[in-house]
Amino acid sequence: MDMTATQLCRLEDLPDGEATAVDALLPDGEESVIVLRQGGAVRAWLNLCPHAGRRLDWAPGKFLISQGLLICAAHGASFRTDDGACVGGPCRGEHLRAVPVAVEDGWVRLLP
Ligand code: FES
Repeated sequence: MDMTATQLCRLEDLPDGEATAVDALLPDGEESVIVLRQGGAVRAWLNLCPHAGRRLDWAPGKFLISQGLLICAAHGASFRTDDGACVGGPCRGEHLRAVPVAVEDGWVRLLP
């Protein structure tokens, strides 16, 4: 995999506390990935809700985030932004699937 294939987005393009959706080439094929920034830290998960397999964004790349929770736009499941655990709604107790990422040279990159 070349370096450009591992670049998801620029850290500076992601406002603190917000998330975006990026199409990424993962081992199982191309998937939409949620990339969420908290200060200098970035977390990423598959953009796939464990409830009914829908995307979590209400429009491409637009997520509902409130009080440390990322809320699925489909039926309102709420996930902690620090670990992706569902703490409310129809799939409470389940988790978003984490995607390993790191920030290098100002880029959010997929890790192998
Ligand atoms: S698909 Fe996310 S809450 Fe139903």
